[in-house]
Formats: sequence, C-alpha cells, structure tokens
Amino acid sequence: MIRRTSATASGPSRRGFLTGSAAAAGVVVGAAGGATVARAAEPEATTDTTGLNGARTASFHGAHQAGVTSSPGAHGTFVTFDLVEGSTRDDLRRLMRLWTDDARRLMAGDGALADTEPELASAPAGLTITVGWGRAAALLADESQVPSWLGPLPAFSIDALEDRWSDGDLLVMIHADDPTTVSHATRMIVKDATSLATERWRQTGFRQAYGSHASGTTMRNLFGQVDGTTNPPTAADEFAARVWIEDGWLAGGTSLVLRRIRMDMATWDEADRVGRENAMGRTLDTGAPLTGTAEHDEPDFEAVNERGFPIISDVAHIRRARPDDPSRRIVRLAYNYDEPARGGDDAEVGLLFGSLQADVDAQFVPIQERLAEADLLNVWTTPVGSAVFAILPGCAEDGFLGDTLLA
Ligand code: HEM
Repeated sequence: MIRRTSATASGPSRRGFLTGSAAAAGVVVGAAGGATVARAAEPEATTDTTGLNGARTASFHGAHQAGVTSSPGAHGTFVTFDLVEGSTRDDLRRLMRLWTDDARRLMAGDGALADTEPELASAPAGLTITVGWGRAAALLADESQVPSWLGPLPAFSIDALEDRWSDGDLLVMIHADDPTTVSHATRMIVKDATSLATERWRQTGFRQAYGSHASGTTMRNLFGQVDGTTNPPTAADEFAARVWIEDGWLAGGTSLVLRRIRMDMATWDEADRVGRENAMGRTLDTGAPLTGTAEHDEPDFEAVNERGFPIISDVAHIRRARPDDPSRRIVRLAYNYDEPARGGDDAEVGLLFGSLQADVDAQFVPIQERLAEADLLNVWTTPVGSAVFAILPGCAEDGFLGDTLLA
C-alpha cells in the first residue's frame, strides 16, 4: 500500500505554499533570511512490494537461448560488433566464454565479473542476453559449416538501407522490463568485447511497459496497430516448427533477420481510419481481421462485400505477408523506436522488426519479396537497416555459447 502524508500529519499542503503560510508549508527561515524547505516535508518512502517485477529471472542454461523462448522484455537493445582485424578462432572462443559468463551472472541478478556497478544488476526484471553470429564469425569458427542463408539478404526494391544500421559480425540482444538493467548489461557486454571486437551499431526499442496491460496482451506499434497477433506462443509446437534449426552445430538455435523500418507518421496522418484498416486488413481497435470481430479470429481471405470485392484487399499487408505453405511462416519480434532529431538527422519513428525462422531463404525471403512487390503498408514504411544472424543454441552449465562449434 502506498502511504500518503497529509498536510496536517507530516507534510505541507499545496494550499499552504500558495497562501504563503510558511509555518504550514514547513518552511524554516535561515539566519541570513533565505528560506529552505525542512526535511520533514518529504513524503515517506513506500515499502509496498506488490506487483514488483525486478527480481524475475529468465534461466540461462538449456537447449535454447532464453531471449528466444521467453516473451520479449519491455525494453530492448540490439548491439552489433565487428571482429578486430586478424582475429583468430581462439579469440572468438575467448569472447564467447566472456559473454557466456556475463550473461549467466547478469541474468541471475548478479554483477558481471569485475563489475564496477554491481548494484545495477540486482533487478534483472526478466533480463535475457542472446548472442548471434554474422557470417564473418561463423567463417572464423569453421568455414565449412556456414549456413547458406547467413549473409546479406538479396536487395529488395523498397530498401533504402544505410550502413550504420546494417550487418555486423556479432550480435547481442539484451531485453528486460527495466531500461536501467538493459543499459548496464549492454555496458558490460561492450566492455568485455574490448580488444576483441568493436561496436558497429546499437539500436534500442520498447514495447508496452510491464504492468500497463494484462500479461499476454499483444503489443501495439506506433501506427497504433495491434502487432504480433499471429505469433504462436513460444511453448507451442508451431513455434518450434517455425523457429528451431534441427540439425548440425546450430541445432536448438535459429536465425534472426533484423530490419530497421522507418514509419512515416506525416503521411500516415493523411490516411483516414478506413484507409488505415484497409491497408492492414485488420481493425485498429481490437486488431480483428476485417472479416471477424475478435483479435484471434482467422481472417477469411475469400469473403467479398455486396459489390463482390474482397473484404481484405488483395494488397492488404496480412494477405501479402501470409505464405500459402504454413511451413514457411515466421515468428516476429518487434520493438518500437522513437528517436528525436539529432546531429542533422530528422526525428524518426519506426519498428525494429525481427524475424525468427529456421531458414531465412525458405521463410523470410519469399515473404519480404512478396511484400516488396505489393503491400499497401509500403506507402508509409521504408526499410533503412538490415542484418542477418545465426542465433546460437543454448548451452549447458559447464558449456559456453558457441561451444557446439568452438569447444
Ligand atoms: C513497419 C513495418 C511493419 C508493420 C508496421 C507491420 C505490422 C503488422 C501488423 C499490425 C500485422 C497484423 C497483426 C499480426 O498478425 O501481428 C502484421 C502481420 C504480419 N506481418 Fe507485418 N508489419 C511490418 C513489416 C513486416 C515485414 C517486413 C514482414 C516480413 C518480411 C512482415 C510480416 C508479417 C507477417 C508474416 C504477418 C502475419 C500475417 C498473417 O499470417 O496473418 N511484416 N504486420
């Protein structure tokens, strides 16, 4: 329970200040005639612990990395690195051991080794630290075992990619419900990479805050759309079928395509609600398909209106994004971003669009090709960054991330 202080009990009232009643406001007049507010006016600290989420931990060890299997934290940082020139396989192993140790400790709510601010680790708030390799890291580990999909995507006609948001030899994804926790964990990861890898880019985003909606509520993106409806729950067989790689050194791992997609709010403002809903094929209030009434109703792509036109447009985002073959579907991991104008760059709003799948070429690429060819959403969205990573399998208590190839 939050305890409130009243003017008469222990603190000043707003009225006391406004009427200049120094005594009522707890103001003491100093010897030099200046006024200072007495300490007694401060409200008492609350000891209410209901609803606290800081102590929640995700488990580090297992067949899969926790950042893929747990629901994404409210705050997310994606940081990539380039290996320093002349890096060896041993250097990569050393870095993986360091990051494994960092992730293991920080996710448990402990400071990293030689952490100079261990207090900042004490509220993990569901922290997950997830490591992935770009093509160069996989080549360094074993050039005979690099998946064919690991590397830059084919060029799409809608792309306006910038180097500063693209590619990278290594990725670390840091997610938690507390931005201080994310910041501290990122600092530790970056610090421990010194001399082995240099930071290439960092992107930060957010989803709905912990506690502002019932758990399980689908997030909204900054167009106001309910975004993520068709993702299966992480424990479902369907999630496993879409996401996990089954064979070889990446068994239990997956792949991540991360696209930075700018959303043009000025032109979005020009579209009315009907136009906005038509572009998606879903309503804005509940996220239900235009042919249904509830968020999770199956869209009816065959339904037509009284004039014989499809209710869900032929070029609506959800029609174009749905593969005919269910085994080609992806799982999406989205974070909103909202950057102020800075250093000559305009303000920018958008989506850090992550796509998880067992095979980038078989799942992500055909969907993105179809969307590039025709998708009403393209009017307002532009991909400005792109990167592909192999997300490593999880590791055992005596192992380290990447040990299936580096041990
Ligand atoms: C800023 C860009 C984008 C926005 C705002 C956006 C938004 C949405 C929304 C609101 C939905 C409907 C609800 C849901 O099922 O989650 C959706 C569905 C979907 N989106 Fe996007 N999306 C974007 C980019 C992309 C990209 C780049 C891809 C893949 C290349 C993609 C693939 C999908 C898929 C596969 C679905 C589910 C379709 C279905 O089977 O019903 N989206 N998106």
